[in-house]
Amino acid sequence: MSRGKKMARFAQNSQAENIIEPGKPLFEYMKGQWGKEFFKNNNPIVLELACGRGEYSTGLASHYPNKNFIGIDVKGDRIWKGSQLALKEGLKNVAFLRTFILELEKFFDEGEVDEIWLVFPDPRPRIRDAKRRLTAPRYLKLYSKIIKKNGLFRLKTDNTNLFEYSCHIAKLLGMENIVSTDNLYQNEDLLAEHHGITTRYEKEWNAKGMTIKYLKFTFPSELIQLTPEQEAESNAQDSEEEVL
Ligand SMILES: C[S@@+](CC[C@H](N)C(=O)[O-])C[C@H]1O[C@@H](n2cnc3c(N)ncnc32)[C@H](O)[C@@H]1O
Repeated sequence: MSRGKKMARFAQNSQAENIIEPGKPLFEYMKGQWGKEFFKNNNPIVLELACGRGEYSTGLASHYPNKNFIGIDVKGDRIWKGSQLALKEGLKNVAFLRTFILELEKFFDEGEVDEIWLVFPDPRPRIRDAKRRLTAPRYLKLYSKIIKKNGLFRLKTDNTNLFEYSCHIAKLLGMENIVSTDNLYQNEDLLAEHHGITTRYEKEWNAKGMTIKYLKFTFPSELIQLTPEQEAESNAQDSEEEVL
């Protein structure tokens, strides 16, 4: 994308009422205030992490008018797309937050979130990047601080290593009601939960012949404490791509 086009999008973002980003007055004040200050209701809050163009935030918002959706990504030129679509369709139950996911605690109070979607996050195949995977223990611990007990987490990915890693970490941390499939499109019941919404990355990888994997679980009231050895292993999981 040209620099000019990016700048034009950033300018629109700065005016968009459904984007919370650095420099806007609400940016500093959202923690614990999403219902009161932004959505003006007490409906459940659903996050789409690493949302890119926010296909799930906007798509699910149409299906569930009584839930509030917040797409979170650090890239303004991507959330621009979801923001503009939500404005065009008059979706009042969608917001976009431009920030790093590690900063979530600055924006959400304990138990403020009801559900989290993580859709096609970067797989981070290199061993030294394992701790940057958005399902690494430090991230799941972070999510556990802002999500309600029994809050639902869902991951969608094409990447086998990330999928297996995430299933493994979920079990290690004592997540409950774990359900997974390595071929979502072959599982009618689980597929129905997606309402036919596909993201840009999903389309790309599916077109390349990759099966779509899906993992969901609920957060327990307390996570299992990992031993130092388990922590070290989780942050440096091997992967086929690293070896190849
Ligand atoms: C592979 S793309 C997937 C986008 C979208 N979910 C989809 O399926 O099309 C990953 C996205 O995660 C965002 N991202 C990666 N790490 C992030 C982080 N730590 N905090 C916020 N956003 C992040 C990137 O900016 C990018 O938009």
